[in-house]
Amino acid sequence: TSHIPVIAIDGPTASGKGTVAHRVADKLGFHYLDSGALYRLTALSALRRGTDLRDEHALAKLAEHLPCHFANGEILLAQENVTEQIRAEEVGNTASKIAVLPTVRQALVSLQLGFRKTPGLVADGRDMGTVIFPHAQLKVFLTASVEARAQRRYKQLIDKGFSANMEDLLMDLQARDERDTHRAIAPLVPAEGAHVLDTSEMTADVAVETVLKWYAAAAK
Ligand code: CDP
Ligand code: CDP
Repeated sequence: TSHIPVIAIDGPTASGKGTVAHRVADKLGFHYLDSGALYRLTALSALRRGTDLRDEHALAKLAEHLPCHFANGEILLAQENVTEQIRAEEVGNTASKIAVLPTVRQALVSLQLGFRKTPGLVADGRDMGTVIFPHAQLKVFLTASVEARAQRRYKQLIDKGFSANMEDLLMDLQARDERDTHRAIAPLVPAEGAHVLDTSEMTADVAVETVLKWYAAAAK
């Protein structure tokens, strides 16, 4: 599969990775991997089963045998549509806690590699360019100020009918940034050779165009 092109898009929470990666994949007709969803699915399973979040072995087992299915933008867990449920802040926060565990990360590697299929893949997350697809044709580090990201998350939650509080969101976001950036394994850092794109003052459309332009240049 090493000849199949990969675009790796990493960045902090609410930087727009999902939105941009998804649209770039659509434009190119590529597959799309939302790697964060795998951590969220593991978190949702653990929350539902009441798994002790300190029990690394049990969490890794959950991750390794995730009965998940991705189709038409919907995410299924054991046949149940959990596309909306996994977006709840509680699930995201739990995901970032279990994502520090090396055996959980290891358990999700082969599932992620399996998304690399012809004609190509756009993958978003925290370690797509650094760990999972280190030889990606294009690596992008998407970022934005913590204020811009909190605003985006706030709007997304309200639009979906969830309740949200701006101060709590800012605090959660900073705590998540802290955990994702400072963990020992696969910390959130721009990969070697990554193009950094700060979208604080940029629309998603312009971000998509920029990534497509970089890919066209890289694919030459
Ligand atoms: O949408 P948002 O950026 O908030 O989060 P996400 O991409 O859905 O990921 C949820 C959590 O999973 C993150 O806070 C990370 O801690 C973790 N994650 C990770 O460690 N590695 C990845 N490749 C993707 C997500
Ligand atoms: O995946 P990640 O957590 O990085 O972000 P997302 O779930 O794609 O959410 C980003 C939100 O900000 C979406 O509602 C986008 O419409 C919006 N947005 C963006 O993605 N990029 C911009 N440059 C501006 C806004």
